[in-house]
Amino acid sequence: MLLTLALLGVFLLLLYFLVKYLYEDEEFDKIPGPKGTFLIENGLDFFQDFAQLFVYFRNLANKYKDLYKLKLFNFKFVLIYNPEDVEVILTNTKYNDKGFMYFFLRPWLNDGLLVSKGSKWHHRRKILTPAFHFNILRHFSSMLIENSERLVENLQSETKKSKTKIYSFIANMTLNSICETAMGTALDKEAADIGTKYKDAIHTLGSYLFYRGQRFWLYPTIFFNLSIVGRKQKTLLKEIGSFRDHVINQRRKSGSYKNLYQEVMNEQENDYYLLGGKKRLAMLDLLLETEEQGKIDVEGINEEVDTFMFEGHDTTATALQFAFMELANNPEIQDKVFEECQQIFGTSGRKPTMNDLAEMKYIECCIKETLRLYPSVYFIIRSCKQELQLKNYKCPAGTDCSILIFDLHRSKDQFSEPLRFRPERFQRAPTWHPFAYIPFSAGPRNCIGQKFAMMEMKMVIAAVVREYRLLPITKPKDVVFTADIILRPIDPIYVKFEKR
Ligand code: HEM
Ligand SMILES: *[C@@H]1O[C@H](CO)[C@@H](O)[C@H](O)[C@H]1NC(C)=O
Ligand SMILES: *[C@@H]1O[C@H](CO)[C@@H](O)[C@H](O)[C@H]1NC(C)=O
Repeated sequence: MLLTLALLGVFLLLLYFLVKYLYEDEEFDKIPGPKGTFLIENGLDFFQDFAQLFVYFRNLANKYKDLYKLKLFNFKFVLIYNPEDVEVILTNTKYNDKGFMYFFLRPWLNDGLLVSKGSKWHHRRKILTPAFHFNILRHFSSMLIENSERLVENLQSETKKSKTKIYSFIANMTLNSICETAMGTALDKEAADIGTKYKDAIHTLGSYLFYRGQRFWLYPTIFFNLSIVGRKQKTLLKEIGSFRDHVINQRRKSGSYKNLYQEVMNEQENDYYLLGGKKRLAMLDLLLETEEQGKIDVEGINEEVDTFMFEGHDTTATALQFAFMELANNPEIQDKVFEECQQIFGTSGRKPTMNDLAEMKYIECCIKETLRLYPSVYFIIRSCKQELQLKNYKCPAGTDCSILIFDLHRSKDQFSEPLRFRPERFQRAPTWHPFAYIPFSAGPRNCIGQKFAMMEMKMVIAAVVREYRLLPITKPKDVVFTADIILRPIDPIYVKFEKR
């Protein structure tokens, strides 16, 4: 009986796909793309190792102009890297919902800002936006300064070595920074251990996302939960959860969040130093206050904390490691960065202020150019609940629409010598389409943390270059990327640090 039912189920499923298949969408089929196999369509193409898979998407972007389509059974994907179509998607609130792949992030980030949709997203975005007000960022700047100074100290012993794997140093710094600014908890000796586990867990979870994406039979949660990777994911999520609980509980216990937000909003420049840095606001405080007003619950706080801890440290660390690699390989550009620091700070060892940050114009160009060639978030996906009319094509409702930021940023039509690291291109008014350069996405669902990220990256680059000369070890042309949710090199990136 059971067997008959199962067979019947399988038969109906196949019939369903077959019918869907025969009634293909004519409009969608006009979009160029690689040929698939019967029923599964392009599903078999995904079986490549992660480095090959990364190249697979790039090769298709080079082969087809503007966009291409992929299909998996009857799921439709369109991958876009031309600015006109990108604008259509990002400026229209109709396409604000995240794509199918974000569903794999759910066990981890749940309904956090990155993944949530509709009124929940809107409500949360409203609660969290004040956390990035100029006065709040100014308050955070002192913590970022301390953490960059600690990074410079940690690098001291590296000057004796022939080369340094920079990522772990930088990720350590950015994780400490997000812990302090978002959660109000410094990673002390005791927590540093959990912190390391946390970072490793994030990396592994990221790779699981693609692992699952490749294997369509793991899409149903029931099957995924039973798989080895699904069970490993469960363990990792527990570790992440215990780290987050540790952080939130410390803050709750201290009770120090009360009214701090208003105080900080009224702070004047340099008040922080006058107060001796005792009172420290955290983004979490905003959430805890909102909880008291009954506008968010414990789960809500947890998922926002997870989202910020994830989005807020790995993205900046990844960008910074590429920035250091490029500075090491382009000594004349590095010299200009150093000169700018000297102009701002002279020979004094004083700490940067918000005004100094505004003066770091060339460093800003270097960061922008880094994010052009190495956008940490190198693709995003939106789910089109309604028919999508692009410049030359039409996609039916239900299409998942991926914006390939990586390929968009390397477009020959938009950027001269697109593969060259040339910060100077950002010194003039942009010659490219406004939607040709979108490292932080654009429109209502853009990155909420972009000002914070720019501030942190400026601080770190200035602090490190003031102290050390970077010499090349890893060459940009030798970097091999791997398919992941964040742009990652398959091998570590090395730089040599030399005291100035
Ligand atoms: C170089 C650093 C960063 C880059 C390149 C970056 C890039 C992005 C991009 C492209 C998105 C859109 C994602 C999508 O549509 O799926 C995004 C969203 C987001 N980012 Fe960032 N980000 C960075 C740093 C940060 C930092 C430091 C924080 C927090 C402190 C942060 C928090 C968020 C959040 C919460 C969202 C979701 C916003 C929403 O949907 O309303 N990001 N980021
Ligand atoms: C990470 O940061 C902590 C605190 O600053 C420090 O004690 C530790 O040595 C750092 N680890 C690395 C690899 O830099
Ligand atoms: C899969 O596992 C997660 C926890 O790891 C659990 O929350 C979820 O309910 C499970 N789903 C199914 C369908 O078994």
